[in-house]
Amino acid sequence: MRKKIKIITVVGARPNFIKVAPLFEEFKKHKKINPILIHTGQHYDYEMSQAFFDGLKIPKPNYNLEIGSALHGKQTGKTIIELEKVYLKEKPDLIVVVGDVNSTLAGALVAAKLHMPIAHIEAGLRSYKKTMPEEVNRVLTDHISDFLFCPTKTAEWNLKKEGIKKEVLYNVGDIMYDAFLYNIKIAQKKSEILERLKIKPKSYYLATVHRAENTNNKKKLKNIADSFCGIGNIIFPCHPRTEKYLKQYKLWKRLKQRVKVIKSLKYLDMLWLEKNAKKILTDSGGVQKETYFAKAPCITLRDETEWVETVKSGWNILVGDDKQKIIKAVKKFNPKKPQYKYFGDGKTAKRIVKILVNFLQNGK
Ligand code: UD1
Repeated sequence: MRKKIKIITVVGARPNFIKVAPLFEEFKKHKKINPILIHTGQHYDYEMSQAFFDGLKIPKPNYNLEIGSALHGKQTGKTIIELEKVYLKEKPDLIVVVGDVNSTLAGALVAAKLHMPIAHIEAGLRSYKKTMPEEVNRVLTDHISDFLFCPTKTAEWNLKKEGIKKEVLYNVGDIMYDAFLYNIKIAQKKSEILERLKIKPKSYYLATVHRAENTNNKKKLKNIADSFCGIGNIIFPCHPRTEKYLKQYKLWKRLKQRVKVIKSLKYLDMLWLEKNAKKILTDSGGVQKETYFAKAPCITLRDETEWVETVKSGWNILVGDDKQKIIKAVKKFNPKKPQYKYFGDGKTAKRIVKILVNFLQNGK
């Protein structure tokens, strides 16, 4: 009998968990696959990690490396050391990494050194801003991967421009769209977040901020916090790193008086708040896309975006940390144009697994 195909998937941070949920659902349908899940432990708070495993029914990781937070070099380095031990012990046929966090780069780098084939899901995104840690992670991961699963045509084009040969590029659609379509129906039935917060649909703005470029810069974070105070009617699920810096810069108390600051939300509650928001203000890549899927106007608190399609379609506006632009967009940005299916059809996980199984069983 042919032996099972062993695929290791590495996750570490909140956005990774959402992206692997549809993948593991698809793995279940293939009896020949033996999926191994490694959680690096980059995110470790209940609401940043376990809440997503529970809400998205992701299997319990086979390994939790408990790496935790640290400076980037230390965090990535520790992850590399621990992952190498597991890869050597498990001897997988393939490694899957997703997105652009430090765990993604560590997962790919160890595999490349051990000559193990690597599949990168969400390949080809670019901000062309090397000071973003995510940009470094993306570029390096893409250039050592063997299967580059691009979510959009733009992503595929970006990789072609960098000289990556077309045989390894697959425009499969966006796996986050799979997750959105599946979970929004569940959120509609199960989420009680509107009742809990005592708010009505389309009566509030929703905001998230966590990018290093915004949180680690006092002037920028102050501008953003000031504009939120000016707008007022905002629900603000706050990332732990943002809370830390808001307190450090002494912006926390005033913000809490003017804005509804809450803890980071579970995925279903976040989707349901997105679906019912008047507009969404964010610096997150994932939230920009979910806002597009939810057909809500997106106000992006950055000067550039990897998700250029959302801007091109007229549903997303880039305002950076400019107070006037932020407030003006909240008042006047009202997209009406029809939306295009830039992000596929919600069957991305199925395509990815088919391609990988074909290669691992038949070598093509
Ligand atoms: C990471 C990713 C980012 C992603 C984000 C989603 C990198 C370089 N960045 O950023 O691309 O969009 O996750 O959330 O990998 N912290 C906690 N509890 C946690 C996790 C983090 O308190 O469970 C705090 C710690 O104070 C830590 C800080 O957040 O120092 C930063 O955590 P880290 O994992 O380094 O990066 P994120 O900012 O979460």
